[in-house]
Amino acid sequence: MAQQQTPYELLGGEAALKRLVDRFYALMDSEAAYQGIRRLHPRDLAGSNEKLYMFLSGWLGGPPLYFQKIGHPMLRARHLPFPIGSPERDAWLDCMRRALEDCEVEPPELRAWLMEQFTGTADWMRNKPGDLPEGA
Ligand code: HEM
Repeated sequence: MAQQQTPYELLGGEAALKRLVDRFYALMDSEAAYQGIRRLHPRDLAGSNEKLYMFLSGWLGGPPLYFQKIGHPMLRARHLPFPIGSPERDAWLDCMRRALEDCEVEPPELRAWLMEQFTGTADWMRNKPGDLPEGA
């Protein structure tokens, strides 16, 4: 029986994931709507790009690069230095939605599934007093 494909494979593997992350940060770097979250990042986005690529690789069922090179992601803890509320969450998600669209990630069900996963995680990153996720 054929093994079920991972989301990483469905997306198109390493090259497709790299393209997606490149597009995500290119949009964040250039679009006025994302300057609020762009400002939270270092001037040079190369390191952020590499880290998100490595993280998503494992998160989507591909090689666990982040774990191998950096360690446990502890994503919420690693985001605590940056003030993230609902507007920042929504900007991040919109930037990713556009990147998925621009990269023509198909089928639409895969795109919707990815957005669902991103939404849950992005919501969990909120860390502003008065704008915290349930359970934080
Ligand atoms: C909710 C809105 C979010 C904002 C405003 C945000 C912002 C940031 C910032 C400013 C950094 C530091 C960049 C750097 O050290 O170069 C970062 C790191 C990172 N973010 Fe986010 N992020 C958000 C959501 C997410 C989500 C949803 C994911 C994953 C699905 C994610 C994955 C990562 C990873 C893997 C790192 C690198 C962590 C490290 O090794 O230091 N972020 N993020």
